[in-house]
Amino acid sequence: MAIAMKIASQISKSSWIRRMFEEGERLRQEFGNESIYDFTLGNPDVEPPESFSRELLELARNPLPGMHRYMNNAGYAETRSAVATKISKDAGLAVPADNIIMTCGAGGALNVVLKTILNPGEEVIILAPFFVEYKFYIDNHGGVPVEVWTNRDTFQLDIDAIENAITAKTRAIIICSPNNPTGVIYPAESLKQLGDVLKKIHERTGHLIYVISDEPYARIAFDGNHVPNIFPLVESSIIVTSHSKDLALPGERIGYLAANPRMATAGQFMEGAVFSNRVLGFVNAPALMQRLVAKLQDESVDIAAYQSKRDLLVRELSGMGFEMVKPDGAFYIFPKSPLADDVEFVKLAQKHHILLVPGAGFGAPGFFRIAYCFDMGMIERSLPAWRALAKEVGLKVR
Ligand SMILES: Cc1ncc(COP(=O)(O)O)c(C=O)c1O
Repeated sequence: MAIAMKIASQISKSSWIRRMFEEGERLRQEFGNESIYDFTLGNPDVEPPESFSRELLELARNPLPGMHRYMNNAGYAETRSAVATKISKDAGLAVPADNIIMTCGAGGALNVVLKTILNPGEEVIILAPFFVEYKFYIDNHGGVPVEVWTNRDTFQLDIDAIENAITAKTRAIIICSPNNPTGVIYPAESLKQLGDVLKKIHERTGHLIYVISDEPYARIAFDGNHVPNIFPLVESSIIVTSHSKDLALPGERIGYLAANPRMATAGQFMEGAVFSNRVLGFVNAPALMQRLVAKLQDESVDIAAYQSKRDLLVRELSGMGFEMVKPDGAFYIFPKSPLADDVEFVKLAQKHHILLVPGAGFGAPGFFRIAYCFDMGMIERSLPAWRALAKEVGLKVR
């Protein structure tokens, strides 16, 4: 075989979204773009805020000397300082710029963190339903993913289940709020409960377990909801995030990680993480993007537009008999599959030109994911197809 057996096997296991994408392309060629309702990819179709283009033009017109050169592996001091100011405000505690590393997206940040902390065979708890890349990222660094379900009715943290899954080999827990794929936000009380459990274990046994808070959707919260900052709630926490979603810049690969200043090991962790960023071959986050996002820390795409799309879909699909937890943020809905087999359901949806990802793609069979980071016109045009699909699977359509 020309490639490693492990990679070949991982490709075949992880190809849900890609398979849906390919099927979408096929259907688009056959029926035309307008009659295909593609809810598969979390690739925002909005443009970055206008301030982004303004700053980009400004920088192109007045280039800084040496602005395309290598830099400190952690990133520009000015950018790290802007990020630290923003996080300090959100967390209500002083986060030094030294605790920030600019990274190639949240995906890059997750890999840097996992490389820095994992010894071979150590376990990382991931909470189903989860972003499927976690499993591969953990494997990249010799770790073992341990799947623990959130509450199946609310998708909120099940602290007892997490506590029961902790072993002597547990090194970290990855959480994601607002969540991909469920859209739920974890309230401060349950994050504090988690932090208290881990603190007790640390005090009793000296066993340090990190919480890696993956939060690229943190600025996309609805109904005046606010995503609690993890730093005051969980001492051993690391934030990984990016501007892929809040500034709609996924192709630019710009994000960061931040270590909780309350963590006694923060200094050693940062030293390791700067080294990992370098030797993973990222070297540093893209220079031009660092200059730009430094100026955009209080900006985001239009959250109200996402909320209108959520409201429309939740209202219409509930009226058709689909059951779902109303999302608090991000741009996903994770309804129950009306058929026992979510893969069968997704295949049936394709016949109605609706493209979805089965829950199995998120470690959660029995559900399906709708990404609604798309044009309102497409969402509205899709409703008759949803209605026909609901009728076909025997739902009580109002
Ligand atoms: C939960 C979650 N984490 C991480 C990522 C990776 O984002 P990035 O583009 O910043 O690498 C995504 C992207 O969809 C995501 O949904």
